[in-house]
Amino acid sequence: MASEQMVHMSQGQGETSYARNSSFQKAEQNRMKSLIEAVIADLCGSSSTLLHGKVVIADLGCSSGPNALALVSTAINAIHSQCLHLQQPPPEVCVLLNDLPDNDFNTVVKSLVTLRQSKDPVVLTGVIPGSFYERLFTSDSLHLVCASNSLQWLSKAPEDLTRNRIPAFDTDEHVRHERLPIVREAYAHQFREDFTLFLQLRAKELVSGGRMVISLVGTRSNVIASKFFLFPGIVAQILSVMVTEGVIDKEKFDSFYVPVHGPSGEEVREIIEEEGSFSIREMRVHDPTTEMNTALSTPRKFVNNLRALFEPIIVQHFGDIMDEFVRTAELHWSLDPDGSLQEERARTSRATLVVSLAKVS
Ligand SMILES: C[S@@+](CC[C@H](N)C(=O)[O-])C[C@H]1O[C@@H](n2cnc3c(N)ncnc32)[C@H](O)[C@@H]1O
Repeated sequence: MASEQMVHMSQGQGETSYARNSSFQKAEQNRMKSLIEAVIADLCGSSSTLLHGKVVIADLGCSSGPNALALVSTAINAIHSQCLHLQQPPPEVCVLLNDLPDNDFNTVVKSLVTLRQSKDPVVLTGVIPGSFYERLFTSDSLHLVCASNSLQWLSKAPEDLTRNRIPAFDTDEHVRHERLPIVREAYAHQFREDFTLFLQLRAKELVSGGRMVISLVGTRSNVIASKFFLFPGIVAQILSVMVTEGVIDKEKFDSFYVPVHGPSGEEVREIIEEEGSFSIREMRVHDPTTEMNTALSTPRKFVNNLRALFEPIIVQHFGDIMDEFVRTAELHWSLDPDGSLQEERARTSRATLVVSLAKVS
């Protein structure tokens, strides 16, 4: 069964690393820019009494590569411009980057050193390894929390499925269709638990009036239209072909769960309102089809993107089956015999959800 430690992205700078295959996620980070700038304008505004000369910013699920520092850099640049505009001295800035312990923190630390040298008001930087489903920071210590493309990762596979040995993706298409509502409900339930916990924990760590800007991969509506959520669905399809070819064992496949859930905007809104620690300042739902089509436009890009996101979790569960996985995935892309990949893309109504939140005092 999947544990948190396995869901980190592919490390390093190689061809299949997350660092080299995250342009799609980069586009999604860009959509957060104006919201982060608006938050900084509020926090640093002349009437704000929140900062007391210092601002602590954390990025949760930063991964490694060019995206790791993108959100905090946006915030720091906004602090600079805001203070220049108001002709006031910039606050001291502390930047903290979090991800799971197996993340490629070596690369992250080097870029943090560069950030500290190049940006005037940054006085302190640090990495905080650990799960964002646990306490990471001291109480009332953060002013701004950012998280991009990470909160769709669950803390674990849905217990309702693992306990009852229900496969997430049955190789029998008929059974799979029959079970889809149960499977989706189990994932939605796990997401609700995890996201509620995330909000509770961050509410403890943020100062009163503190802010969060998060983006996550979701779906456009609550309708269960999809065979399965896009990327995990494609990975499961490829692995199921490998089961029929006898490359992997069916029992092993049946106990493989990708702990990812793509919630709808309504799901996210409902959980935030029920949990009650935050008010929603703004929520945007974007259609990422253009970026997604670019990211998946050739077999090489398609496979590298899948490997960057899922290789660690696949290898952990099945052992080193990556050569076979790559061969099957390339074939899947180029043959796409029943148009299922296109169909999957169209049906999932994938969306990027971007939410700006303020801690309720
Ligand atoms: C798709 S990457 C996004 C990275 C970066 N924020 C971006 O937008 O490109 C998702 C990241 O979330 C991290 N992650 C997943 N679950 C996590 C958890 N429970 N705690 C901390 N980080 C987690 C993964 O390790 C991974 O680096």
